[in-house]
Amino acid sequence: MESLNEDQSRRYYDQFSKGYDDKRGGNEPGGYHDLLDDLEVETVKRYGAGKDVLEVGCGTGLLLARFRDFAKTTRGIDLSPGMLEKAKARGLDVVEGSATSLPFEDKSFDVACSFKVLAHIPDIAMALSEMVRVVRPGGYVIAEFYNPWSLRYAAKRAAGARSTSGSFKEDAVYTRFDSPLSVRDRTPAGARLVATRGIRIVTPAAFIMNVPVVKTAFRFAEEVLSATPLKQFAGFYVAIWQRD
Ligand SMILES: C[S@@+](CC[C@H](N)C(=O)[O-])C[C@H]1O[C@@H](n2cnc3c(N)ncnc32)[C@H](O)[C@@H]1O
Repeated sequence: MESLNEDQSRRYYDQFSKGYDDKRGGNEPGGYHDLLDDLEVETVKRYGAGKDVLEVGCGTGLLLARFRDFAKTTRGIDLSPGMLEKAKARGLDVVEGSATSLPFEDKSFDVACSFKVLAHIPDIAMALSEMVRVVRPGGYVIAEFYNPWSLRYAAKRAAGARSTSGSFKEDAVYTRFDSPLSVRDRTPAGARLVATRGIRIVTPAAFIMNVPVVKTAFRFAEEVLSATPLKQFAGFYVAIWQRD
């Protein structure tokens, strides 16, 4: 039976789909969302060049469309028909489904990745184990978590829930935060942690990335710091597991 959480997420993202791309996908060149997306795409490229890549929670396909530049094949799954409609308009191979019950055979992909999605899933262990299941031996699971040890978390706590999706506020959707320490403990059976990366470490607020010159400096800092020990204070913490 479908969970209440999935129903809630679907409604939230169906509504959000109408304006999701407004500030993304180069619509604010060099802005906050471009910074996140560029670092995420670059991470997948390291492991997914020339490979079969699945994105779990592909949304409107902003990242998936860019994976086509380097992957052999790309596929996406998402819960929200509204988000998927936009992904299909980009010509992407996407299917409706849940991260906790992926509609794919075992060992179908070389890389399964997920960005800005797992934070909305209560049964995160099941989602990770599904990603491992659909990846071939030696392949990679690239999973992004929201980090409570971050400026982003502090700013969100201070500001409270913002309106992001029509009549919905951010707190209309389940959101969890997992620290780098707990992420390590979440290593799914049959996989081992091989790398981690941090995204949005020093950028204090999204609007900073619209200020000329300043945004160039923050972008440079984020690129340089993403693989340093400061990554554990990133707003978005990315774990890379390799399947045995
Ligand atoms: C913030 S968007 C991220 C979209 C895309 N990954 C990106 O970076 O632009 C989160 C997406 O996760 C999807 N989602 C949430 N819970 C999900 C679940 N249990 N299974 C599959 N997709 C889910 C939502 O429908 C939404 O499209």
